Amino acid sequence: MKILTASYVISAPSLKECPDFQGCPEFVLVGRSNVGKSSFINSLTLRKNLARTSNTPGKTRYINFYDIAYAPGEGRKAKMLFVDLPGYGYAKISKTEQEKWRHNLEAYITKRESIQLVVQMIDARHAPQDNDIQMYEWLQYRGRAVQVVLTKIDKLSRNEVAKQVALCARALDLRTEDIIAFSAENNTGRDKSWVRILKALQEERPSIQSPEDEEPLG
Ligand code: GTP
Ligand code: MG
Repeated sequence: MKILTASYVISAPSLKECPDFQGCPEFVLVGRSNVGKSSFINSLTLRKNLARTSNTPGKTRYINFYDIAYAPGEGRKAKMLFVDLPGYGYAKISKTEQEKWRHNLEAYITKRESIQLVVQMIDARHAPQDNDIQMYEWLQYRGRAVQVVLTKIDKLSRNEVAKQVALCARALDLRTEDIIAFSAENNTGRDKSWVRILKALQEERPSIQSPEDEEPLG
């Protein structure tokens, strides 16, 4: 995968402030706070500080857009956007703030037409938590194409990774080969993630449901 440029574009506080980018395909990162969403963007683009990361959960507060120009073939140039969303499940943020974010995330996932794929990130060190499972099921219900990525696998042994992948597959009713084991620390799973992203670009964008049959997350 040849990346020509990768740059931060804009942060939007909610869906209605998001520019439309002429339908440029969007790859959206969701997952619990601190799971490694922003680090995933940096790893895929091989840019150390493109997306802001932090040890303190709750770092990403807005809907952040990153513009990626890449070369899909000889002499060609194409664009996609990575969209970094705030994490869920961070207890130290006030209830009001959490509610606001949940609403923003729901609106974005439900209504944004340019979403090509949702990348759901889950910490490989733990079994999927209730809110991970709930999120996954809700994304399915919304008809979104989802790729599950287990993060921080550099913190586990090879055996433990295999065990956690199997556990996650069982919890989400997936096949183990559907899950990407990933580390932003040493870029394990980076190539697989790009293959999946490029495959998603060939797939037709799932049509989104009308707002009338909206069912909230959780
Ligand atoms: P929020 O924006 O708060 O929702 O967090 P996030 O999901 O964007 O997480 P972020 O990428 O900021 O990473 C959180 C912390 O985990 C940082 O200290 C990262 O350096 C660390 N981290 C992320 N990915 C990995 C990984 O694959 N391996 C290891 N060892 N650490 C990681
Ligand atoms: Mg972040």
